[in-house]
Amino acid sequence: MRIFVTGASGLLGSKITELATEAGHKVISGYATRTPDYGDIIRLDIRDEKSILKRIAESKPDTIIHCAALTNVDDCESNKDLAKKINTDGTKGVAKAAKNAGAYLVYISTDYVFDGLKGLYREGDKEAPINFYGHSKLLGEKAVISLNNEFLIIRPSIIYGARSASGKTNFALWILKSLEKMVTINILTDQYVSPTLNTNLAKILLEACEKKLDGIYHMAGNFRISRYNFAIRLAEIFGLDKTLIKKVKMSDMNWIAKRPRDSSLNVSKANMVLKTKLMNLNDSIGVLKEEIKLAARN
Ligand SMILES: NC(=O)c1ccc[n+]([C@@H]2O[C@H](COP(=O)([O-])OP(=O)(O)OC[C@H]3O[C@@H](n4cnc5c(N)ncnc54)[C@H](OP(=O)(O)O)[C@@H]3O)[C@@H](O)[C@H]2O)c1
Repeated sequence: MRIFVTGASGLLGSKITELATEAGHKVISGYATRTPDYGDIIRLDIRDEKSILKRIAESKPDTIIHCAALTNVDDCESNKDLAKKINTDGTKGVAKAAKNAGAYLVYISTDYVFDGLKGLYREGDKEAPINFYGHSKLLGEKAVISLNNEFLIIRPSIIYGARSASGKTNFALWILKSLEKMVTINILTDQYVSPTLNTNLAKILLEACEKKLDGIYHMAGNFRISRYNFAIRLAEIFGLDKTLIKKVKMSDMNWIAKRPRDSSLNVSKANMVLKTKLMNLNDSIGVLKEEIKLAARN
């Protein structure tokens, strides 16, 4: 495949470009401010539609994986105009460019399109975002559906991985680093998610691209867990002191944006059709542990 990845410096994009390069695909890596490690690198602000259309036409990809987004939920709430420009209008631009290039488009959406009242959401469940991040990403989904014939929309839930990316840590890495330094951390007991290892998601995505899977698929960890219990399991598997993990509730948080209480996802649709499987809790943390060990050796 000849794959154009937007957001190639991000937590998911960096893993996709790494695995796609290793698998022998031609990779073109788009980024905004931080240079990606893999692929032919192209600086591309997705707020600039003209340049998206031009750069993607020049790159002639057969596949586009669109990961770029404003992912900070509170930033989206306090700067709605920026969130709209990046997450909605930027996605519209990428969708148009994919259509013009005749490329298969994969759009990475989010579990935050749901209101969190039900949990274990399936692909057919009604979307009802409760914050601007979710709203702006859902409008991105609608743009893809209306503009593209060959597309795949993926909804992960909180993504984590062995390395920081795009200038920031991630949920699992932050927990591990804090516990290693013996720092006490407050973790929510009443917010439920399906934590997604970036390596597992990147692998399954590449298989989905090869098969040109179409429609909407939930691709996340194959389990529902509170953030607190996830932190406890991480501590147990890594042999760290779990008494440093303190319980807090969503009502204790000083967030700008509301969060869904339970945005966990049912991933059985993807697990039924793909060879690569979305992993359970212990297996995914086991892979994370191996990856962190390997990274420390290099
Ligand atoms: N992280 C999660 O927990 C989570 C959960 C569900 C869904 N998702 C979705 O999954 C996708 C990947 O998330 P992630 O965590 O990998 O993201 P991330 O680490 O926050 O990275 C965001 C990426 O978007 C790029 N970007 C931001 N603004 C841009 C702009 N104006 N023009 C071009 N590129 C721009 C960044 O580039 P620079 O680094 O160069 O600035 C970076 O490569 C996103 O679409 C997100 O909505 C994420």
